[in-house]
Amino acid sequence: MEKYILTLDEGTTSARSLITNKQGDIIAVEQSEFTQYFPKEGWVEHDAVEIWNTQRTTLVSVLNKSKIKGNQIEAIGITNQRETVVLWNSETGLPIYNAIVWQDQRTAKLCEQMTQEQVDMVRNKTGLIINPYFSATKVQWILDNVQGARQLAEEGKLKFGTINTWLIYRLTGGEKFITDHTNAQRTLLYNIHTNDWDEELLQLFNIPKNILPEIKSCSEVYGETFAGLISKADNTRIKIASSIGDQQSALFGQLCTKQGEAKITYGTGAFILMNTGASKIFSEHGLLTTIAAAYNGEITYALEGSVMIAGAAIQWLRDNLRLVYNATETEWYAGQVSDDRRVYVVPSFTGLGSPYWDSYSRGAIFGLDRGTKREHIVRATLEAIAYQANDVISAMSKDIKKPFLHIKVDGGACRNKFLMQFQANISQGEVIKPTNIETTAMGAAYMAGLAVKYWKDVEEIKQNYAVDMSWKPQIKKEEAKNLIQGWTSAVTRTFGWVKE
Ligand code: G3P
Repeated sequence: MEKYILTLDEGTTSARSLITNKQGDIIAVEQSEFTQYFPKEGWVEHDAVEIWNTQRTTLVSVLNKSKIKGNQIEAIGITNQRETVVLWNSETGLPIYNAIVWQDQRTAKLCEQMTQEQVDMVRNKTGLIINPYFSATKVQWILDNVQGARQLAEEGKLKFGTINTWLIYRLTGGEKFITDHTNAQRTLLYNIHTNDWDEELLQLFNIPKNILPEIKSCSEVYGETFAGLISKADNTRIKIASSIGDQQSALFGQLCTKQGEAKITYGTGAFILMNTGASKIFSEHGLLTTIAAAYNGEITYALEGSVMIAGAAIQWLRDNLRLVYNATETEWYAGQVSDDRRVYVVPSFTGLGSPYWDSYSRGAIFGLDRGTKREHIVRATLEAIAYQANDVISAMSKDIKKPFLHIKVDGGACRNKFLMQFQANISQGEVIKPTNIETTAMGAAYMAGLAVKYWKDVEEIKQNYAVDMSWKPQIKKEEAKNLIQGWTSAVTRTFGWVKE
């Protein structure tokens, strides 16, 4: 009987379930979108129960459609949108408020109130910065604004988790309340030197320690799913054997296991991570120190640049402006015009992340004239994704004091050949796309498979990796510089737009 690994990939806009075989081929995928709530300007929420139901439905239907039985699944791996917070009542198992999503900016003011001393302390301990993006101020907001929340915490009936924790809690029928180092670190409550929750940080954000989950590695058997998960008749209990933040998962799925290896994932946002091995590099150019993985008794680190809006800008073209019918069309439209009109779209819909960190920036379009057409806007939106990734790439180059040579890419938008060529052009380096671009799912699958010895070691996994296409720069350095200058001038003009 052939065995498989099942990955749950819970992203910002959809939940997916994927089945993988030993060769790393994706045998079956089921995906379903869930509701995005924007209750106020800058706020973004999800319904955590809807996330769980959507995730469970895709899990059941991927098994049904592929005709693979529960007992053929060697283990489940989990990867997830990071930083998003869920607080739930452990007696009812129900959230006390909607999940506050990583993009949500409601705590911008709270973040600003910190003193320089606190800012420095947080930076030194977490490798991150004080920003609404991370979980801590979101948890604090729920504790302070949802009636009865602090009371529940005092009574020991409140639990806090990022989405991985929430899914594992649900999958095990409330038995396991755990997280992993990659997700824990992005909360702003985790000390990257002790690799544990930090009392001083908890105090600063006024968060009681008893609501936090236990921290585990990314690759071990945490527990089993509850009987009856798949159907009433199927009581198979499947091992849950990995938990890893989606960006770290993609880094591992791209097999960037050596120091200096880097990837860009073009998802809702764009996330550029470079493996820095055992060294924690503190950026001087607006990047973050992130835990890359906790595997085999070792914790490794990465330098990360987080861009808040990438694929979401294409979604905005499709759903809000209705300039395109589907995402694929953008490649065609972009190819219909040149960039001589110098139209720039800055898609800072939820503020700017790395390297600018401006919560008050909002989107803008520059350079419009009477001749500007839909094609220019579409093209400039794709270009904006590449410019933002390039801002991170050049910050990384400065931090590690080495020129940029090449980078691996994945995520939906890397199918867009216009975008890939433009990325290579402005970043003046090679952009490499693997045959399997489901690297986010593959990272968690590999972590789970390693835990249950489905795969022996990383060397065995490397056999599964192959390059599909690559793009080299087709414009001169000087031309790239000019284009970037225009972008910099546009993006900086959006700073502070919604600041009173
Ligand atoms: O930090 C946020 C990130 O984990 C979200 O990823 O793929 O859902 O855009 P994605």
